[in-house]
Amino acid sequence: MHKIPEFRKNDRYKRSSYRAYNWKMPPIYDSSVMKVGKLIDLLDETVLREMPSNDFSIRILDVGCATGRLLYKLAKHGYTNLSGVDLAPRIIEVARKKLSNFKVNLDLKTADSEDDLPWPDNSFDIITLTGVIHHFYRLNDALKEAYRVLDKQGKLIILDPWFPIIIRQIVNSWLYFFPHDGDFRFYTPKRIDKTLTEIGLKNTRHRRKCILTYIITGEKIC
Ligand SMILES: C[S@@+](CC[C@H](N)C(=O)[O-])C[C@H]1O[C@@H](n2cnc3c(N)ncnc32)[C@H](O)[C@@H]1O
Repeated sequence: MHKIPEFRKNDRYKRSSYRAYNWKMPPIYDSSVMKVGKLIDLLDETVLREMPSNDFSIRILDVGCATGRLLYKLAKHGYTNLSGVDLAPRIIEVARKKLSNFKVNLDLKTADSEDDLPWPDNSFDIITLTGVIHHFYRLNDALKEAYRVLDKQGKLIILDPWFPIIIRQIVNSWLYFFPHDGDFRFYTPKRIDKTLTEIGLKNTRHRRKCILTYIITGEKIC
């Protein structure tokens, strides 16, 4: 039996993520994602295109890796240093199983990435957060932590859903009171861009992708 993390008082968003991704999602997450069909492949491809194609030994961390779908695709493309972190230990076990046949340096850990990532400073060349930041209540803390473990010249890649303003406001108001499977708040790319710039990332760029998604990247140049 896994130890249940100690949630902060009233941290109902995280409780909701944990409940969903530790208990409900492990057996059904991959098939539910596949329901959106080719779209998910297209979005993963967008992230994969941000990786350097001449160095397969770069150190990659996927934050909120869930069942390891992205890590699996990275391994298939030949990347060999792969790490993942998720709040939910049971979903991490699905990722571990999925990647067990690849000869890669795999480091999967359970942690709350809004608190601290269990790696030393400057540990990774690329950090990805796909479909995760809308779970964050303490967005700045989570992004600062990602910045800390990103190496100099490293790149942060964020991909998350995008909604027109009215829809976003309605959805966010609803989620504030009734978090759904840990979904807490859909941020605008502008807000994320501003936060990344404030924490010190350079060359931030955001663009919309497949109508209802945006991707944003930034580099740690110091
Ligand atoms: C919607 S899923 C996205 C999974 C995956 N990245 C993908 O692209 O399909 C969100 C994941 O983030 C994890 N998560 C949510 N809050 C987290 C936190 N504070 N720290 C680490 N993982 C978190 C959840 O447990 C869940 O596995």
